[in-house]
Amino acid sequence: MSVFIGGPKAACYFGKNLFGDLEHNRISVTFVDKDGNEKEIKVPIGMSMLEAAHENDIDLEGACEGSLACSTCHVIVMDVDHYNKLEDPTDEENDMLDLAFGLTETSRLGCQVIAKPELDGIRLALPAATRNFAVDGYVPKPH
Ligand code: FES
Repeated sequence: MSVFIGGPKAACYFGKNLFGDLEHNRISVTFVDKDGNEKEIKVPIGMSMLEAAHENDIDLEGACEGSLACSTCHVIVMDVDHYNKLEDPTDEENDMLDLAFGLTETSRLGCQVIAKPELDGIRLALPAATRNFAVDGYVPKPH
């Protein structure tokens, strides 16, 4: 039995969790790939979905490493309730989202979605394709 005082582990006393379902300040996030395969991971509060994906071998590219210069971290929030709990996207994020393949009403950039308690249980779909002008050297096809 241990007692933590102060710091990020202050919520854990005697192995119990003061945040109900939240286990040690982490939320549950499920990524669904283009084939429908699901992977549920625990993401610490404050971590971006891009970082979380990379830590868990989830195939989310993130070519610019979160500097809002690509759209390769495009994710689709699968339920509107969770989508509505996100901060509104900035103009920069919207500009990049406009370049993303398969844009939907609930699309976001994974590097801009930061884990917070209200997002516990969020499900994120990975689009079937991404578009990366910077790295892929995109060349428009002739018509
Ligand atoms: S990693 Fe490039 S915008 Fe998110």
